[in-house]
Amino acid sequence: MKTITSAERELYLTLHHLSQNHPIVNEWLTRLPKWLSTIKDKSRYAHAPAYLSAVNRLPSITREHNRQVDLNADAITIQLDWTKAEFKQTQALLKNLMPWRKGPFIIGNDIHKLHIDTEWHSDWKWNRVAPHLSSLQNRRILDVGGGSGYHGWRMANNSDEYGAKTVIIIDPSCLFYHQFMAVRHFVGDADKNEYGNYRTHYIPVPLEALPKQSQLFDTVFSMGVLYHRPSPFEHLNLLKGQLVKGGELVLETLVVEGDERTVLVPSGRYAKMNNVYFLPSVSALTLWLEKAGFVDVRCVDIDVTSVQEQRATEWMNYQSLADFLDVNDSSKTVEGYPAPMRAVMVARKG
Ligand SMILES: C[S@@+](CC[C@H](N)C(=O)[O-])C[C@H]1O[C@@H](n2cnc3c(N)ncnc32)[C@H](O)[C@@H]1O
Repeated sequence: MKTITSAERELYLTLHHLSQNHPIVNEWLTRLPKWLSTIKDKSRYAHAPAYLSAVNRLPSITREHNRQVDLNADAITIQLDWTKAEFKQTQALLKNLMPWRKGPFIIGNDIHKLHIDTEWHSDWKWNRVAPHLSSLQNRRILDVGGGSGYHGWRMANNSDEYGAKTVIIIDPSCLFYHQFMAVRHFVGDADKNEYGNYRTHYIPVPLEALPKQSQLFDTVFSMGVLYHRPSPFEHLNLLKGQLVKGGELVLETLVVEGDERTVLVPSGRYAKMNNVYFLPSVSALTLWLEKAGFVDVRCVDIDVTSVQEQRATEWMNYQSLADFLDVNDSSKTVEGYPAPMRAVMVARKG
């Protein structure tokens, strides 16, 4: 069966299973066919057929490839005994899915190793976040704005030490959906949970498309999304609606220095991004979370993004952070705002 078809089938089965105890999931199931057909609609996404074709032409992986998957490593690693021809074919097809922003991923063996060196060292973010999480073992997780799915794979973790029962990644990007499916192709069955189902799923929709009060997830992640939203309280309320009572929210976003009255709203672009709205101080963000109904709100990490963590690579050859900062003063963006600084907040739904 083709990778995307089997991933969609597994998603359907997981939701169907979930609906037995959670009737709200019937609403997800009703919307699912539309969600999955829209992402293939070339009148909406001109590149969709090319992305699909790249995923469909990846070489088949059989027992002879001795696949070994490590979702618990800084680079998601799929070891394969493959031929030079398979390596070359995969390299060319995955280049059709550029730019690769979130990773890294390693596919292959020491002789023919494909290292997808992504724009972001997403492992660095994960290493800042992971120590502060309640155990993910056996939990149901939603990763909102999950990009290529790198962090979702890390949450799923097939070491069985602390892997989730189910991870659902959502993100409206057609490219990132297909990047996830390309990685899924190589991961194969290696992330199956004890019920024999895939742990890791991807629904190509924005948060706003989900039924609002699903109350399904033990942990909800929103990393790198809040500052893109014109209405931060709407985003926080929608995240809350996806959590079970007492469930954990992990919110990572851009912040600025200041007190609880400090919020930066860039007048135009911020670090050359034209869709940045609200950058609160940590105190203001704490207030927002409490006002939105979260409790035990904690800031567990603050980090100024470095040009080693976000940079142009062979797999993302556009401009990157170094081009977004003032050449004479790297503490400022080219627009004169404070350079990107990120906070990780952890809170519980009260
Ligand atoms: C800066 S990236 C962050 C990716 C990843 N979570 C990380 O932290 O590295 C923001 C992602 O949010 C997605 N996104 C934007 N608006 C969204 C929405 N309303 N719902 C879900 N995802 C959204 C974008 O497509 C993009 O992939």
